Amino acid sequence: MLAGRRILLIIGGGIAAYKALELIRLLRGAGATVAPVLTRAGAEFVTPLSVSALAGEAVHQALFDLTSEAEMGHIQLSRAADLVVVAPATADLMAKLATGLAPDLASTLLLATDKPVLMAPAMNVRMWEHPATRRNRDVLAADGVRCVGPNAGEMACGEFGPGRMAEPAQIMSAIAAALGDGPLAGRHVLVTSGPTHEPIDPVRYIANRSSGAQGAALAAALRDLGARVSFVTGPAAVPPPPGVDVMRVDTAAQMLQAVQGRLPADAAVFAAAVADWRVQDASAQKIKKGPQGPPRLAMAENPDILASVARMAEGRPRLVVGFAAETEAVAEHAAAKRARKGCDWIVANDVSPGTGIMGGAENAVTLITAEGAEVWPRLAKDEVARRLATRIAAALT
Ligand code: C5P
Repeated sequence: MLAGRRILLIIGGGIAAYKALELIRLLRGAGATVAPVLTRAGAEFVTPLSVSALAGEAVHQALFDLTSEAEMGHIQLSRAADLVVVAPATADLMAKLATGLAPDLASTLLLATDKPVLMAPAMNVRMWEHPATRRNRDVLAADGVRCVGPNAGEMACGEFGPGRMAEPAQIMSAIAAALGDGPLAGRHVLVTSGPTHEPIDPVRYIANRSSGAQGAALAAALRDLGARVSFVTGPAAVPPPPGVDVMRVDTAAQMLQAVQGRLPADAAVFAAAVADWRVQDASAQKIKKGPQGPPRLAMAENPDILASVARMAEGRPRLVVGFAAETEAVAEHAAAKRARKGCDWIVANDVSPGTGIMGGAENAVTLITAEGAEVWPRLAKDEVARRLATRIAAALT
């Protein structure tokens, strides 16, 4: 799959460096060649011997190494590859590139390269969530640096949360996508996400508890498989992922319009928690409290965006996927919904308060297709997204 491709792999200092060894193995198995670079901190976790033995090439470690500068200067090294991958990418390496510092070989290569850069961050949860790291992430994303992971889970330091480096197989998918070789390369996928806000008056609205986390994770996973993603999102708590084409809306009516404006698509996934009803005549002025008592709000039905796309006579996406948030008889209700809306798949989940799924980090879904119901184990929303994206890719090929 990566035959003839050359990857410059920078291994930073973190416990996840051991996974970089597996990544080298996978890259070479897929036909790529690997030019390995080990930072000083990286060499505390994996040995140069292991890295060069697996890569089948000498490992580059020092900026001012006269032998290697004579053989191949760092500028040439940074450009001879098709892609630069940093795995693990430490908070320190990210900060250096975000600010343009180049005190060592790895950071100099990152600054000198004219090739795309993919980072697989790995660090303690608090370091990942520190405002400085967040700032650096935003700067790097704006500079076009791609990111895969980190995943949420148990960390070597004993804490729990986002910070674990993406698994080597996941990094492989992101590498293929960055090289334009992913299974969804050339495909356009539309994703809706987040809640909608239906105005009562200029300051009040009706909303729901959707965070938009599952939709954002799905958009990122589809992007990582090479898709061009149009992401139509309501006012979500979770920011849209970098590298997707974002369209922000408030109401269901606006969402329908945005979706129609983004078609045609090869697949459309409706993860948004769209309000079923809106206030029929939202007041143009703030409704005043007074002796007349509370207002009586007449409600009107919102358009069903999923059903309208699933039932398109012409130009229907080949695959239309809906979500179903249920609190009881999940599989039965979802199967009925699939038939009623005319979509191909329904991703059903139980959002009863006790599950912690709405607004939480995990999801337990049942995938309803024409073949029947598949119950998936409870997984991180990122993992649900990756599985679903892989299934979507398989259905489109
Ligand atoms: O009918 P229900 O809201 O349970 O259906 C959920 C599915 O339908 C989700 O995929 C959601 O994004 C979609 N939907 C929609 N437009 C609506 C209501 C729901 O696209 N007005």
